[in-house]
Amino acid sequence: MHSLQTPPTAPQARVAPDAVAWPDHPFPPGFTWGVATSAFQIEGGADADGKGPSIWDTFCQRPGVIADGSDGRVACEHLKHLETDLDLIASLGVDAYRFSISWPRVRPTGAGPWNEAGLAFYDRLIDGLHARGIQAHLTLNHWDLPEALQLRGGWANRETVQHFVDYALGIARRYGTRLAAITTHNEPWVIAVLGHEAGIFAPGLRDRAVAAQVSHHLLLSHGLAVRAMRAAGCQVPMGIVLNLSPHLPATDSEADRARARLEDGKLLRWYMDPLFQGHYPVDVLHDLGDQAPRIEAGDLDAIGVPIDFLGINYYTRSMVSAAAPWVPGSTGLPLTTMGWEIHPPSLTELLVRLARDYPVPPLTITENGGAFPDHWVDGGVADHDRTDYIARHIEAVADAMRQGVPVNGYFVWSLMDNFEWASGYAQRFGIVHVDYATQRRTPKASAHGYRRFLAHQQVRRAQAAQAVTGD
Ligand code: FCB
Repeated sequence: MHSLQTPPTAPQARVAPDAVAWPDHPFPPGFTWGVATSAFQIEGGADADGKGPSIWDTFCQRPGVIADGSDGRVACEHLKHLETDLDLIASLGVDAYRFSISWPRVRPTGAGPWNEAGLAFYDRLIDGLHARGIQAHLTLNHWDLPEALQLRGGWANRETVQHFVDYALGIARRYGTRLAAITTHNEPWVIAVLGHEAGIFAPGLRDRAVAAQVSHHLLLSHGLAVRAMRAAGCQVPMGIVLNLSPHLPATDSEADRARARLEDGKLLRWYMDPLFQGHYPVDVLHDLGDQAPRIEAGDLDAIGVPIDFLGINYYTRSMVSAAAPWVPGSTGLPLTTMGWEIHPPSLTELLVRLARDYPVPPLTITENGGAFPDHWVDGGVADHDRTDYIARHIEAVADAMRQGVPVNGYFVWSLMDNFEWASGYAQRFGIVHVDYATQRRTPKASAHGYRRFLAHQQVRRAQAAQAVTGD
């Protein structure tokens, strides 16, 4: 996950190609394998066909906020390359594709008229997936709020909650019969804290009280949107996606342990408690003091609406030090080029804890993957570190499942290299390489590895089915 820490110069993880061991055992039938992207990070066409600006379009124009001075205007030009990108997804042999809708592409000012050209693009995307036998997992909000709504206060304004519900209803009505899953929000913590408290993501505000109010409005709009879409007859499985990671004290000191507990409260319990237990965590409310959000009667009921799945985006664990910012890499674990520690057992531990502490619905790993250096060898991309990362995290998921945790799917982040928010294009998470000068896509070794692993899973599934029917 994204964090408040500055990435250090990462010692690069090095793994010999032959050390990559994909799990060999079968995952249960019905387990969904996929790849993920989001609209702003790949689409381009920033003002094509009547699209309105999003807060990320505006934010990128501020000097100095994006590491390489880039923006999302062109990105992977997915808008233009839709058909070949769909073929690319199909070539991997995945069951599902997780993508997001750009709210300002389909409704340029967030609340006014709908934009038929934008809506038609997602018709083509969803129908194209369907034609290729791939499930469509749609996310409503992967951060690109219409700028017009930001000018009226954005997520800090309670009116945005109702605009989001209206948007969700419009999307459910238009595409509802063709979808396999609807996610309301991607990573509300990132929107609230990195966008409104740390100011390093759009809309770039620095105000903890505002951030707390934003997080409440995001959760509230999630609950109300799920209720409204269901009331309108939409039967698609619905959920929300959280970015979670275990927080560990850097030392055994009481100060570090207390701080780690609080950070865990701010990242995990602040979202999990209201979603599944009907209240906000007392220690975090206490820490917020008079910066705590305004909560109206009935809000917590709405937030606690039962959901069909909980999406987990997992990248790394977090170490916490009370006295000084913890230095990534000081534990000696290998890091990705984002400076994120690679520690698959933390994913197992996280999943086990969620299932132990909360009445969770099935968990879906909606994002997992890593930024690593790509090495061109004989016209192909050798990215063994990424392959190894993915294979080991899939095994970590299997470990959690063996301990009884209900996990129903796994999505690699990301299908292809893309605009990595404040890091620009320098950080590459794709299993498919994108040459931004030519928009040429080249599947990396990790894509080939994932494809072979999925093909093997197919064989395993068939064997398991045969064993059941006795054929
Ligand atoms: C997650 C985001 C995703 C991508 C990955 C690396 O926090 O949801 O868009 O940036 O991190």
